[in-house]
Amino acid sequence: MDKQEKVIDLSKSINSKSDEFKSLSQDLQGNILAPHARDNAAHIFVEFKDQKCAQKFIKSYLVKRIVSSAKQKKDSEAFKKGKSNGLRTFLNFSLSMNGYKFLDIDNHKIPNDPSFRNGMKSKQGRLNDPTPNSWQDEYQNEWHAIIIVSNKSVKYLKNRVSAIKKELKKNVAKSFYVEMGKGIRNKEGSHIEHFGYVDGISQPHMLTDKIDDGKVSTENWNPKGRLNLALVKDSGGVGSNSFGSYLIYRKLDQNVKAFRLAENELAEKMQISVDYAGAQMVGRYRNGTPLIPISPPQPTTTGKMNDFNYASDRRTGSKCPFGSHIRKTNQRNSTMPDGVQFPRRGIPYGGNVTKDAEGGVGLLFMAYNSNIGSQFEFMQSSWVNSEHFPGGSNSPNGIDSIIGQGSKASGQVYFKKWGDDTSAFRETPSLGGFVTMKGGEYFFTPSISFLKSI
Ligand code: HEM
Repeated sequence: MDKQEKVIDLSKSINSKSDEFKSLSQDLQGNILAPHARDNAAHIFVEFKDQKCAQKFIKSYLVKRIVSSAKQKKDSEAFKKGKSNGLRTFLNFSLSMNGYKFLDIDNHKIPNDPSFRNGMKSKQGRLNDPTPNSWQDEYQNEWHAIIIVSNKSVKYLKNRVSAIKKELKKNVAKSFYVEMGKGIRNKEGSHIEHFGYVDGISQPHMLTDKIDDGKVSTENWNPKGRLNLALVKDSGGVGSNSFGSYLIYRKLDQNVKAFRLAENELAEKMQISVDYAGAQMVGRYRNGTPLIPISPPQPTTTGKMNDFNYASDRRTGSKCPFGSHIRKTNQRNSTMPDGVQFPRRGIPYGGNVTKDAEGGVGLLFMAYNSNIGSQFEFMQSSWVNSEHFPGGSNSPNGIDSIIGQGSKASGQVYFKKWGDDTSAFRETPSLGGFVTMKGGEYFFTPSISFLKSI
């Protein structure tokens, strides 16, 4: 790698045809700038056993199987052009702080984000998470690493996972745990989560191809995301453009039955349709149609549209309630993603949607951050879990209707009639508790050159 290479300006987004992409994509692991887009995934959590064997496993087995950003791009282009059957396996690799320590990596090469260094368990208080000793047993472990493997085909995925397990048993791992993810889709073929809503619509685009090609309309909201929403310099990498990203991993269990009941009860209390009640909790209808631009609200075919902001609804939230999930997590105050936004890469688990599941299904939430404290943790603690955001202390609007983990005392404000401030209805205590955090960890997805060098 050329050490004299021009250092890329991370405060910009880039097109995958640019020189900047060429400079950074060989050494950057895939799934960070763009999703791996495969419907079956295995997340292999590893606790290493023997340092030398672990190093050898990473350097001689894993590295050549890791899919770089450049390779991911090439594969997806080949697939789009019909030159590939789309059955290539995607794989990337991340280390926790405990993993860096186990491998005895020099301190200056270890990513320095304090949340990463202290681990997710230490953030239970800030995040209002259940106490770690009540997490699913496997997540109480101090994992060293996570290998994300995915394929369109379950069979191919299973074969690859078996091969990796075989390697891990060669004195590499003391223990490992495999969490399986499975993309689920609605009748129209869009990805949904277990409550039945289309997910993965609004994301910062760090690769601007679709925007530059005019495939994404940007009149009211331009989703161009600066590279530094996710990328940080990897001080362990060898090039001037060696980057990595912090991976936030959380297993979020969904009580579908309780959520559906809440939608029904809210509809009954407000004398509105169940669809409109649910849409006010999420901020979008089940098919993805956002509440904002549609008047009067009804599930139309607008589907996954994302070109909107809240300028016409700043005062009360009578179009899209302040406590709805998408309003809590992205205020769209300027015309582009703020510094808190980040790429989300979650995948559901637990199989197909069942309306009466009381748990055992949910979302393996994954996100890439450049600063965990001011992105994911800030979003979860100061927005999602706060009754006073947005709105301030004089006008509480309750916690996030979907993922809030905080006081429910103030209640959320919903509206009987779209856009009618006088039709406000306060639901006290706030709706919530449909999602339970079962465990998780902070990892770092390092540059490939670092992994070659350990
Ligand atoms: C089981 C848990 C979760 C469910 C069921 C869920 C569901 C959804 C759905 C249906 C959407 C709308 C589709 C879209 O705009 O992409 C969405 C958007 C979003 N979610 Fe979640 N989500 C969950 C967890 C989280 C967590 C933990 C966070 C972060 C703390 C988060 C942050 C976001 C953000 C930032 C958006 C996009 C908002 C926008 O830009 O308009 N979600 N989620």
